[in-house]
Order: sequence, then structure tokens, then C-alpha cells
Amino acid sequence: MSARNLGREEREAVAGSGLRSARWFGAEGKTGFMHRSWMRSEGLPDDTFRGRPVIGIANSWSELTSCNIHLRALAEHVKRGIWQAGGVPFEFPTTSAGEPIVRPTAMLLRNLMAMDLEETLRANPLDGVVLLAGCDKTTPAYLMGAASVDLPALLITGGPMLNGKYRGGDIGSGTSVWRFTEAYRAGQIDASAVTEAEGCMARSQGHCMTMGTASTMACVSEFMGMQLPGTAALPANDSRRATAAHLAGRRIVEMVAEDLRPSKILTRKAFENGVRANAALGGSTNAVIHLLALARRVGVELTLDDFDRLVRDVPVLADLMPSGRFLMEEFAYAGGTAGFAETLGDLLHRDALTITGTTLGENYAGAEVFDREVIRPLDNPVKPVGSGIAVLTGNLAPRGAVIKQSAATPALMVHRGRALVWDSLDEYLADADDHDLDVVPEDILVVRNVGPKGYPGMPEVGNLPLPRKLLEAGVTDMVRISDARMSGTSYGTVVLHVVPEAADGGPLALVRTGDLISLDVPNRSLDVEVPAGELESRRREWRPREVPGGERGWTKLYIDHVTQADEGLDLDFLQGRSGAAVPRQAF
Ligand code: FES
Ligand code: MG
Repeated sequence: MSARNLGREEREAVAGSGLRSARWFGAEGKTGFMHRSWMRSEGLPDDTFRGRPVIGIANSWSELTSCNIHLRALAEHVKRGIWQAGGVPFEFPTTSAGEPIVRPTAMLLRNLMAMDLEETLRANPLDGVVLLAGCDKTTPAYLMGAASVDLPALLITGGPMLNGKYRGGDIGSGTSVWRFTEAYRAGQIDASAVTEAEGCMARSQGHCMTMGTASTMACVSEFMGMQLPGTAALPANDSRRATAAHLAGRRIVEMVAEDLRPSKILTRKAFENGVRANAALGGSTNAVIHLLALARRVGVELTLDDFDRLVRDVPVLADLMPSGRFLMEEFAYAGGTAGFAETLGDLLHRDALTITGTTLGENYAGAEVFDREVIRPLDNPVKPVGSGIAVLTGNLAPRGAVIKQSAATPALMVHRGRALVWDSLDEYLADADDHDLDVVPEDILVVRNVGPKGYPGMPEVGNLPLPRKLLEAGVTDMVRISDARMSGTSYGTVVLHVVPEAADGGPLALVRTGDLISLDVPNRSLDVEVPAGELESRRREWRPREVPGGERGWTKLYIDHVTQADEGLDLDFLQGRSGAAVPRQAF
């Protein structure tokens, strides 16, 4: 081991390297001594600090986030690549957010995680960062935090689990949970079958293997240029993912030399690619919220309306649950994101720049598809053009609401029915199993106070379980309306993200049981048939409900500052970016 300290000239060379980290490690006197000396307790030779790019590996690994459990191991492969390319890796943890267990909802922690990453990146001597994420909220949180600091950044997601296997067939995370629990409530299967299925679904490392929010955000972020091409769909346990991690480590070092930062990649074209790819994947409605939030971090104009307008000529081409039949394993083996991008052709901006330093079109040129059942050609789509997310407006949702057409029932897309209204999710769930509940299949179920401020965190509950007596009668879908989100793995004729939410005084707060609601998806409208004067008089009587747990701490900060669904549920003061500059240093 070399014990030689750098001489003055060498120090000046480091300081003059232009690397951000050199402002720490290349400093003279007491300052430089402190920065280097303590870090050397990690066993690093002094040439570690001699002008090498310092790369952070942000790791959302946590034993509480089962979908990201393998990211510690994946980080080792990233480190190999970084060392190999001449960089110095430092892995660090952040807040994580495990979708299946965080209460009241993992969404409440997305912005906290983004803020944690942002502050950690800015405060430390880092020249670039590799982001290791996977479970639903962890990917957008990291993209948002990294975008606000704008150091060279590359994402690598953890990859989907292997297919669930149950009694000879495939089961998909999330989607099959809803199906099993509905079948159980309808008396079609017994409790032991459900318990058995529990052990068969998440049978490997990785994130959900349906086209839920995790797979959606993984694929979409690749098509937006932030992941290595052709990697997002590789299963978590596939050794090619470890190879991709190694290559990501090499690439980030080059990106630092090229000064290739998120602001150069996350352009309007990248967002348009993300929006259109999401439609073609039959992706999650959560992507709407995450991309709106991310766009505001980087100053790209993106509106809710774009998610409707930009996808009208995009068919659903991935035959994946919940919109279709297959799971991510088949998608990967069928050609994955590379084959999918080639299939989309000019529906994507092929000249958009990516983290490779080359364009999307160059990255995927010549990619093949090996199973046209899973990745359909443009002339034989899973769902035709116009099946993507539709954005509805009307007197019930003045700033918009969304419906995922590909997961809805065609016969319910134009529907007029009596509203049955609940002020809280708990009150609805208490009534849903009651055989005396006055409900018919033509009714419209409305649950409110499940929005960003109202719950808080806008939980994934919009796909309300159907009333038990209707389930037992064989009803499989009804129109449901709320200010909630729904899981990307869900399905049904579910109107979500009503803006403004009820807790913010939106008209959703004023609807009463017995009012008539009319939904017209082809005409993009959502109205309650109550005269404006009557709504106004109801408004005068309306008082916001108290939000449990909203008196202090993060939850209070969240409620006081969270934006509505049409702006991405970011905190108002986190929109935009501060860059990587640290305004002061204490030593
Ligand atoms: Fe983590 Fe689905 S619950 S990805
Ligand atoms: Mg989810």
C-alpha cells in the first residue's frame, strides 16, 4: 500500500481537474486533510483522491422493501465497473419505500426519498451517481432527486420477479391478488387456496412482474433515456442484469467526463417518449403522476392533457397483465425493451439523447422481436389506438381525472348512473360486504377524501372492491370514481385522480348519494347532474375533514405543501432544481 501523500503540484492538478469532488479532495491545508483523512479509514490508498471521478451509488435496498432486496448485491457489480473505468465508488443508503407494507401508502414517502437523495448528493463530494431502484415509488423518487441536483446520473432498476407459478399456471403480482381476493369474497375459492397462492406469487427477487407501476417506471425511464438500452425488462435474477450493472458502472465514469447530465436527457422529447411508451405498454396510471412531477423538477412543460393528446395514435402493443395475458418474463424473452422500441418505430422520437451519449434510434437499431404474441406488431395490437389513458374533465373534475381505458369495460365507457357516496374508504369497506346495501350494478360508487391531502398520500384504493352481493351475483365491474390512485396492476372502469380532490374543496366533496353522474369517455367528460346553484349552496355548508396524523412531522409538511394530482403530488417547494452547488462550507 502506498503511504505517500500527494505533493503540492499533484494537489493542484487534482484541484484543476474540473471535477466537483476535487473541491473537497483536492483542497489544501486543514480542509483537504479532513476530507481525505477520514475517508481513508475505509482503507482507500491516497491515489484514490488523485483526480478520479467519485461516483455515488444510491441504494434503495432495505429489508423493509422486499422488491429491492437484491440491490446490495447488484451494487457490487456497479462498483466493479466504476473501479474498472478509473472511478471511485461510494455506495450509500437512503430512505426507501416498500409498496406492499408502508402505511398509509408508500406514496407518502416518495417525496421524502427524493429530498433525501437530493440533499445527500449535493452535500457530498460526488461527480456522478448510479441510482439503484425498483419498487414502485423508489424509481420516480430517485429520478426526481437526481434531476434536481443535475449531476451525471444513470438509473438501473432491479428487474422484475420471475413469473408467479400456481397450480400449473402463471399468476401475476397485484393483478392476481385482486382476482384471488374477489374470488374468495364471492365464495368461488376457499381460504386454503388463497394461502397457497400467497406463497406462489413472489417467488424470486425483484419487483412486480406485471406491467404495474414498477415495470412501467423501469421501462418508461429506459425509453426516456435514463437506463442502459435493453435492460429494464431483464428479470432480477438474470445474470445479464448483473452484467448491465457492471456496464452501468463503467458508463457513469464516462458520463462524468462528458458532463452528460439529466437536464440534457430529460427534455420535452424524452417526456413525450415516456408518455407514448407508457400507452403502448398498457402502463400504470401512476406514471402520469410521476412524470408530471419529474417534468416540473427539470422545467419541462408537461400537462395532464398531454397524456391524452399524445397517445391517441398509440395502440397497446405489450400483451401484459393487467391489460393483457403475459408477464415480464415473457416480455424479456420476446425481445424486451429493445424489441419493443424497434416495434414502436417512429412513434418515439428516435433522435432523443440517452445516457449512452447516443440517440434512442441508434441504441435500438436492428433489435428483434422473438414472440409476436407478447410484443405485437403495429398492425395487430392488443388494444387499438385510443385505448390509452383518457383525461376527463367536467363539473365533477374541473382540472381533470384519468381513466385507463385498456383496463376498463367497453360497455361502461358511456354510462349514466346514481351516485352512492362514501366520505371515507373505511366507511365504504364497512358497507361493502353488507347484503342489505342498496346497490345495483348500474350505480356509480364514489369514495372521497382519499386524495393527496385527504388521506394523505393518495393511496392506491381507487379500484374499490365491488359490493359483495353484486360479486356473488356475478357482476365483475362497475364505474367507480375517487380522488385516489390505483395500483398499476389493477383493472376495472375506475375513474381516478379527480382534481381538485375533495379535501381541497373540489366538487367531488359536494356530490350526494342519489345524484346522477354521467361518464362519457369518448367525449372525455365527467359531470354530476346537479345545477350550479345547488352545488354552490352545498359548498357553503362544506367543511374539510380532519386528517388523522396530520398534526406534526413529515405528514404535516406533506399536507401543507403537496400539489394536486395534475401537478404530480410533489411538494411545492421541491419543484424545480437547485443544482449541485453548495452555497457555503464550514471548514
Ligand atoms: Fe414492489 Fe410491486 S410491490 S414492485
Ligand atoms: Mg403500487
